[in-house]
Amino acid sequence: MRSILVLNPKGGSGKTTLATNIAAWIAGQGKRVALADLDKQGSSNDWLAVRPDNRPAIIRACEDSKTVRVDADIDYLIIDSPAALHGKKLAKFAHNAERAIVPITASAIDVRAAERFFHELVSLKKKINRKIKIVTVANRVREDTRAAARLEHYLEHLRLPDGRELPYLSRLRNSQNYVTAAERGLSIFELAPSKTFQDREQWVPLLKWLAQH
Ligand SMILES: Nc1ncnc2c1ncn2[C@@H]1O[C@H](COP(=O)(O)OP(=O)(O)OP(=O)(O)O)[C@@H](O)[C@H]1O
Ligand SMILES: [Mg+2]
Repeated sequence: MRSILVLNPKGGSGKTTLATNIAAWIAGQGKRVALADLDKQGSSNDWLAVRPDNRPAIIRACEDSKTVRVDADIDYLIIDSPAALHGKKLAKFAHNAERAIVPITASAIDVRAAERFFHELVSLKKKINRKIKIVTVANRVREDTRAAARLEHYLEHLRLPDGRELPYLSRLRNSQNYVTAAERGLSIFELAPSKTFQDREQWVPLLKWLAQH
C-alpha cells in the first residue's frame, strides 16, 4: 500500500480539497483507495458521506491510537490532516507516510507559517520517515496578482531547511469548481470536462507525480 499525507498546519490551505480530489482521481484509475480524515471537523468524512454511489468507491479509514487502520487489499491511503498538526502527532503520521503534499495559499501570513512548519518537520528528524518525499502545491491562486507571483517565486526556490529538495509541482487557481465538487462528494475530475479543463490542466504535474512508482 502507498500512503500520501496532505498536510499544512495552517487552516484553510486546501488540505481537504487536495485529499478528496486525489482520492477520487486515484479511485477513478481503478485502484482501491482509503481516505483517512484526522480532522475533528470531519470535512473529508462529510465529503465521503455525500459521495454518490455510482462513483468509484472510496473507503473511509479510521485512526487508532497508533496509526491509521486499513484493509490489506487497499492500494492507496490518502490522509487528510487537521490544521495545527504539530509535535508528536505530526511525527506519528509523518513517520509512516511515503509521500506528503503541502498546499500553500498566496498570502505572506501563510508563507511565513509554511516556513515555520518546514523547520518543525526537519527538527523532527528521526521521528519522520527519512525517505518521505515532500512536494508543495500553490492553492487558491488568483492569477495575475502580486501575491501569486511572490508565492510562485518562493515555492520555486524552496528547499527544506536541511537542504533537501522540495519540488513545487502545481499551481491551482481559485475556482468555484472545487467548491461545487466538494458540495456533491465529487472531484473536479468528475465534473464536466468543458467546465473544468483549466483546472485539470493545472493538475497534470501533480497527477504525474502521483502516478510515479
Ligand atoms: N483552489 C480552490 N479554489 C476555490 N476554493 C477553494 C480552493 N481550494 C480550497 N477551496 C475552498 O477553501 C476552503 C478551505 O479549503 P479546505 O477545506 O480544503 O482547506 P483545509 O486546509 O482542509 O482547511 P482546514 O485546515 O480547516 O482543514 C473550502 O471552502 C474549499 O472549498
Ligand atoms: Mg480540512
